[in-house]
Amino acid sequence: MIYLDHAATTPLRSVAREAMEPFLGHRFGNPSGLYALGRDAQQAVDEARAAVAACLGARSSEIIFTSGATESINTALVGIAYAMRRAGAGDHIITSAIEHHAALHAAGFLEELGFQLTVIGCDASGAVSLDELGRAIRPETILVSVMLANNEVGTIQPIADIADLLRARRAPAGHRILLHTDAVQAPAWLPIDVETLGVDALSLSAHKFGGPKGTGILYLRRATPFHPLLLGGGQEMHKRAGTENVAGIVGTAAALQSASSGTAERSRRVLQLRNRLRDGILAAVPDVQVNGCQQNCLPGILNIAFGGLESDALVAALDELGIAVSSGSACSSSTWEPSHVLMAMGVPIRRAVGSIRFSLGETTTDAEIDAVLQLLPRAVEAARRQFAGAPT
Ligand SMILES: Cc1ncc(COP(=O)(O)O)c(C=O)c1O
Repeated sequence: MIYLDHAATTPLRSVAREAMEPFLGHRFGNPSGLYALGRDAQQAVDEARAAVAACLGARSSEIIFTSGATESINTALVGIAYAMRRAGAGDHIITSAIEHHAALHAAGFLEELGFQLTVIGCDASGAVSLDELGRAIRPETILVSVMLANNEVGTIQPIADIADLLRARRAPAGHRILLHTDAVQAPAWLPIDVETLGVDALSLSAHKFGGPKGTGILYLRRATPFHPLLLGGGQEMHKRAGTENVAGIVGTAAALQSASSGTAERSRRVLQLRNRLRDGILAAVPDVQVNGCQQNCLPGILNIAFGGLESDALVAALDELGIAVSSGSACSSSTWEPSHVLMAMGVPIRRAVGSIRFSLGETTTDAEIDAVLQLLPRAVEAARRQFAGAPT
């Protein structure tokens, strides 16, 4: 199989697997236990927290382990917005149209709870506009959530500039406008430093950078107004109740350490592969277009619109040839639901429904790109034949 869906998930790094193994076996204690086995587990969690903090330029006390980015994002948005409103700071939040559904749906839930919500758009490359963000800010704005890099087209957002803008637009009443970023797609490709980014909260999912599934990270800057979402025991410094996933946490830290080193060299290598894939597709397949920018974006993501086909049919045809990719659209029998990201970028619906995301990883090889370039035209022809014969 040729796996080109690394933005969906990545294989477990061997360092993570090795680090986890003892905690799936004899080191099985509950960190809350006061005896040696419990203290051993607590120490492992503490060490993992320190390692993650070091990777992100944060303090250990600012790192909360969660079940994944979906939980981290929900916790950040709901937990901060609730605490800020309770403190009388305001009730307006801003997010962008190209966020993952974890952020968009959490923001929608806050709106249902009576918060005011503004969703800003993006340009054709998938970049949000600082001007539009600036215009959306009101005296009652308390929280902005914009992703660091988009998972469908790879566009990198100007988070540090957004942080500067928010500092400059501090509300007259005196409260800061807090900034959360969904940085899920960035580790392994970009250095992530919370001070350089200037964020108050940041979310990560371990399985996107070679860690285990079901484990995530929430960075929460010291003294950020916050109310926990999960209530119960006092774990995670009273910010996230529930017995810790010790093996997952240990594997997360090992994976992040490994992913965070050598990002520049890894990015250079994968960018060359992606560019070769892109140029090969553009040369070999008629009626194709690249969605999004190819400059300020993650090196491994290539989103391509194939005219005259429906993306799920192409995903299936590629799957038959042993190639795993994602479609940018979900198609049910009677309705097409094109990607909300491509729609926000202004991609015409006909193009959006035929769009495919190739996401390369650090294990992707030259030989795999050669094989995809050789097999793809056949899969495209099959999907186009199917589309031409499909009932309207
Ligand atoms: C940008 C982004 N944010 C959030 C998530 C949610 O991550 P998880 O499903 O691991 O909670 C994903 C996963 O696809 C993602 O790509």
